[in-house]
Amino acid sequence: MLWVVLGWLDAIKFAKSHNKAHYEVLVPQRAVQGWHGTAWFPAFAHRARIFWHLASAGWDTQLCGGGMNWNPRLMPYKNAITNELWISASTAMYLHFPGDDNSSPFKARDGEPELGTAASWPRHDSKYKDAAIVAHKWLTASNMTNSHGLYVDGFHISGYRPGVNNTGKKCDERDEMVYTYNQGTILTGLRELYTITGKSEYLEEGHQLIRAVIKATGWDITKNAPVQDLKVLQGHGVPAWYGLGRAGVLEEACDILATCSQDAQTFKGIWMHHFTTFCKPLDEPFDGEEMNQHMHLRNANLHIESCKGYKPWLQHNADAARNTRDGEGRYGMWWTVGLMKEYHVHGLSIVPEDVPVPAEATDYRNDGVPNNSIWMMAPVHNDGRQRPMNRRDVVKLSDANDRGRGRTVETQSGGLALLRALWEISRLP
Ligand SMILES: *[C@@H]1O[C@H](CO)[C@@H](O)[C@H](O)[C@H]1NC(C)=O
Ligand SMILES: *[C@@H]1O[C@H](CO)[C@@H](O)[C@H](O)[C@H]1NC(C)=O
Ligand SMILES: *[C@@H]1O[C@H](CO)[C@@H](O)[C@H](O)[C@H]1NC(C)=O
Repeated sequence: MLWVVLGWLDAIKFAKSHNKAHYEVLVPQRAVQGWHGTAWFPAFAHRARIFWHLASAGWDTQLCGGGMNWNPRLMPYKNAITNELWISASTAMYLHFPGDDNSSPFKARDGEPELGTAASWPRHDSKYKDAAIVAHKWLTASNMTNSHGLYVDGFHISGYRPGVNNTGKKCDERDEMVYTYNQGTILTGLRELYTITGKSEYLEEGHQLIRAVIKATGWDITKNAPVQDLKVLQGHGVPAWYGLGRAGVLEEACDILATCSQDAQTFKGIWMHHFTTFCKPLDEPFDGEEMNQHMHLRNANLHIESCKGYKPWLQHNADAARNTRDGEGRYGMWWTVGLMKEYHVHGLSIVPEDVPVPAEATDYRNDGVPNNSIWMMAPVHNDGRQRPMNRRDVVKLSDANDRGRGRTVETQSGGLALLRALWEISRLP
């Protein structure tokens, strides 16, 4: 639901910028009429508003002191993505939702003020801002980051039993799985929390997370080079895993075995999308009263300089990813192998230790949700956890991206999102 909110609000932002560039600026005499795409704003806004309100029912304060619950049909699971989406969708509603006066498809009903009886839904409604601030506070206090400073996937609740009063139970069963998109989706919200409040701590948190990601790919940002000397790979070998990548290249845990689901094939692109939004030059803080112009200019300059510092790493990733294209220009999912070609690695002998899924992790995004009592409402007896691999896998590097689902629309969008990130960073003033 919250992906949908972000999608419609991005559609509004796109139509605005297209209208500005091609009508207001290029052909001022066409500005009055404007681009016909802007006629869709009420429909886009309506959908964004409906989905935000539907999703808001997932916020729960009885368990873990707060947090958005992922899936009402499974055991309570408060995970990074759902809460990051809630933060980013709520800041986006506060800043970009233009208001809505269409009560369809929910008719007014007694006792349902939220969706039914309001005459209109105004823009810049403080409930969106408040939701983002409360959720951010909960998430940062939730202990959801690991020793690399990366978001793990989320928390189950020990001792939870369906059908009894579970009030007050805590988020204490942590799933150590790390995905790239969990390090990205919050970046849009952090940037916009700065725009809303003018508080630089949100920007600092975003840069810290980006640097943690870069470090966890095995990249030394002070030397602008991979930490591992890649010459030792000559002819064979898989580069070492650093937490979210190897050889300075962003990698999903499923990449090496090509077990990625089509969802996971979008993850690196999602990271790049939110990174690009985060690193745009800052907007003026929204609340004029709290704003200190001098501090804002200082923050804005620091932000740009920090973002420019990520360019060599992005370039390194783009070089690797571009090397994964096939004869028709289609990007692969596993960017790292594009780099290995340069080191004349021709074949990979993958051993179980190369597969970066920790014992306390369930890679449910790729292997499916296990049918066990941790995940499913009805108690079951089998431990559905799937081990990713227990044998040696020899992969020809001739085209390691031809395995699994191979090249898809999703792998292509990942490559494009990376190139766009590099392009936007290169244009920073
Ligand atoms: C945070 O989570 C880790 C991993 O589950 C755990 O070892 C640690 O004790 C937790 N810290 C707090 C303060 O709860
Ligand atoms: C559940 O337990 C909490 C705290 O123990 C209590 O405040 C609440 O009223 C209970 N809810 C129900 C429905 O019994
Ligand atoms: C889950 O496990 C239970 C008990 O072992 C079994 O009855 C059920 O069919 C399983 N469900 C699925 C979807 O595999």
